[in-house]
Amino acid sequence: MPSITIDGRQCNYEGKKMILQVAQENGVEIPHYCYHPGLSIVASCRICLAEVAQPNPRNGNKLELIPKLMPTCQTPVADGMVVYTRSPKAIANQKAVMEYLLINHPLDCPVCDQAGECHLQDYSYKYGRAESRFVDDKIKQPKKDIGPHVLLYADRCIMCSRCVRFTKEVSGTAELGVFGRGNREQIDVFPGRPLNNELSGNVVDICPVGALLDKDFLFTQRVWFLKATPSIDGVTASGDHIRIDHNDGLVYRIKPRTNADGNKWWISDEIRYGWKFVHAQERLRVPQRQQLGGMVECDWKTAYREALAGLRKAVKEKGPGSLAVMVSPMLASEEAYLLGKAVRALDEQAILAVGPVPVVGEDKTFPGGYTIYAEKSPNARGVRQALELVGGGAESVLDFPVFIKSLEDKQSKTAAMILTGGYPTPAGESKELVKAVGKRFMVTLDVLPNALASKANVLLPGATWVEKSGSFVNVKGKTQGFMQAIGVLEGARTEGQIALDLLAEMGASEPERYDVATVRERMGGMWVSGVAMPSAAESAVRAEMSYVEL
Ligand code: SF4
Ligand code: FES
Repeated sequence: MPSITIDGRQCNYEGKKMILQVAQENGVEIPHYCYHPGLSIVASCRICLAEVAQPNPRNGNKLELIPKLMPTCQTPVADGMVVYTRSPKAIANQKAVMEYLLINHPLDCPVCDQAGECHLQDYSYKYGRAESRFVDDKIKQPKKDIGPHVLLYADRCIMCSRCVRFTKEVSGTAELGVFGRGNREQIDVFPGRPLNNELSGNVVDICPVGALLDKDFLFTQRVWFLKATPSIDGVTASGDHIRIDHNDGLVYRIKPRTNADGNKWWISDEIRYGWKFVHAQERLRVPQRQQLGGMVECDWKTAYREALAGLRKAVKEKGPGSLAVMVSPMLASEEAYLLGKAVRALDEQAILAVGPVPVVGEDKTFPGGYTIYAEKSPNARGVRQALELVGGGAESVLDFPVFIKSLEDKQSKTAAMILTGGYPTPAGESKELVKAVGKRFMVTLDVLPNALASKANVLLPGATWVEKSGSFVNVKGKTQGFMQAIGVLEGARTEGQIALDLLAEMGASEPERYDVATVRERMGGMWVSGVAMPSAAESAVRAEMSYVEL
């Protein structure tokens, strides 16, 4: 395998690469601002410059030092190359670049949202000068609202042009540009064209300093208080890798996690801001049951007893095949399996169905290759697979339209059912379903109030994906595990726990805590088709989360 030496360390590589890429692959740090693996290379910031010696084939492959410093982000590697990033010349350049970048940069780290995850701050400490020699007044620029999600603090900008290249190359919308010249040069949007595309939040992630900030996260939390939990997109079918940043049981923001085979470095704004329903004031917090024509709050024990009494009564009166469970595609595969098991423990011929799968518009692929999927639920395929495990085959599970038809059929035996929701907006709730259910006995598990929940005989408050562990199968059929980031809302329970509680209450099993690994063991069959075991994937993401990449 070809190799180069960087600061005395041998670094192997394959294929055509730049020095900086080989350094990153081998865990060697070279400072960089303008380089980003998802964007074209412009080599404009000059902080990555290093001394390079390379073998000269016309001189018996003798190592020859290139007389000027080379940008490591733009210099292709050659076997046997030797790179010095800590030589006196390279260090002098790093210090000079840092001094230049800080000339007009305000010293407002204490009030800057980027503090704690700022490349300028970090490199200033590692590669900069201890004191500034600049005595004149700094140029001041006002902050500017440049789009629905992003604020621009122009005087913090170091003109790396990452954001401009992003809107040109990845989103293809080209709202941002470089305006002015010299020390008046600045990033801005074109008049009347705000930064308003479906991927706009990504410019905040790639801005190495605090020049582009997320309005939603602005001044809400210092980043060093945040804990990061690796997760998977829970609001669309993309299965994008995300990181949930939270503190004290509250989610503060969602960021993309690098995923070479999928979302790469990006997520859509819909995923970035789609978690707000987790902390909605209206979240269901207490079990309820119908009494004298209205919903009244009750304790969990009463709710479980009431639910089981209604379900059992239906089986007693109408015989096998009188129950149904409809599992929402918002739930984890493990929960679908447990809910299927719970209803089949009461009625061996109970109908197993997948809930409505919201679809909005059409799939949209951007010039950079990122796709926003029209399907707006994370696990329609996983829920189906898990229910098929319970039912014993594809025919044993009904898709939502077929389920509705079966309820509307005059011959329908279904007299009682367990329905699950968990959608972020009432859009997920289907009017057809409310109509088709009619006066049947209904146990509903949901997170937000909606028409279906208000018609339930027993209503049980469920949990969102950030409050539990499990796995989703994305639109491409890939199974991916996600981990619980915050505790379940006080008063609510995960749908997996509710299923286990119902099984225990009916005497079909011992009381048990919802543990995702135990459920997966029971589901063994679901993971045999060459799909990576989510538990293994989880340990990989845990390892990956031991550092946070810009
Ligand atoms: S706003 Fe940020 S990403 Fe854009 S050029 Fe300035 S420093 Fe770079
Ligand atoms: S990272 Fe190489 S010049 Fe900017």
